[in-house]
Amino acid sequence: MSAEDIAFLAGPFQRIEGWCHDESAYLATHLLRAQQAAGRTAPSFEIGVYKGKFLSVLHNASRDTVAFDTYEWIPVASVKESLRGAGVSPDDIQFIAGDSTKMTPAILSEHLGGRKAGFISVDGAHTAPAVFSDMTLVETALEPWGIVAIDDFLNPMAIGVNEGATRYLHTGALVPILYCTNKLFVSRHEFADLYAAEALRFFEENQQLPKCKAMLEHKTQPGTHWAQQEMFGRLVWIVP
Ligand SMILES: C[S@@+](CC[C@H](N)C(=O)[O-])C[C@H]1O[C@@H](n2cnc3c(N)ncnc32)[C@H](O)[C@@H]1O
Repeated sequence: MSAEDIAFLAGPFQRIEGWCHDESAYLATHLLRAQQAAGRTAPSFEIGVYKGKFLSVLHNASRDTVAFDTYEWIPVASVKESLRGAGVSPDDIQFIAGDSTKMTPAILSEHLGGRKAGFISVDGAHTAPAVFSDMTLVETALEPWGIVAIDDFLNPMAIGVNEGATRYLHTGALVPILYCTNKLFVSRHEFADLYAAEALRFFEENQQLPKCKAMLEHKTQPGTHWAQQEMFGRLVWIVP
């Protein structure tokens, strides 16, 4: 993560209204930069943008970003205004209006110019069928080394997300890497250990973030079993 990334996360990101904890925003930036350091670059996209808070994180780190939303709540012009107001230019973000649950893999691929994505955020409709549908869809658009962040996992105020996500995890190709402040991060099995190790490095290097520090304290005392537990056959880090 560069000094510019930190300035972005401490500045413009804080000024955008929406739902995203600092820990998730910093972690997503760290993981995107780790992908790039390994020569892995690709577009990123989000389903469910609202005023662009987490989208701005993806855009800051990838600069090749697609924003899917129905834009019924917040029209595209207002999302752009929200970003501009925070000092983020929306000019090179591609905004696509529509219901993600009606999108086919072929149409999604067309929107991505035939490319696969390296980082995807799923934060659209929060019903179980919609989350299952979005996860099944985005799996088709992900690079083999890509990461998906599922928002509102374990959030009791969006209880259907758990049902949709866990239904997907029973059959899907993506497995849990870690849970961090309202988001479950998943990837293909072959990359999950690499990203879990990268995330631990991030927690150790970012103890100025209170929830990362608390997680590491749990890891020390009472012990690792308080910070890392099994889910779908994998040991996942937990930053509540
Ligand atoms: C919780 S908000 C997203 C918050 C945002 N990710 C942030 O960083 O603040 C959910 C968004 O999903 C959008 N949405 C709901 N159902 C959708 C659907 N079927 N397809 C696409 N977007 C949808 C809503 O319009 C809303 O903007």
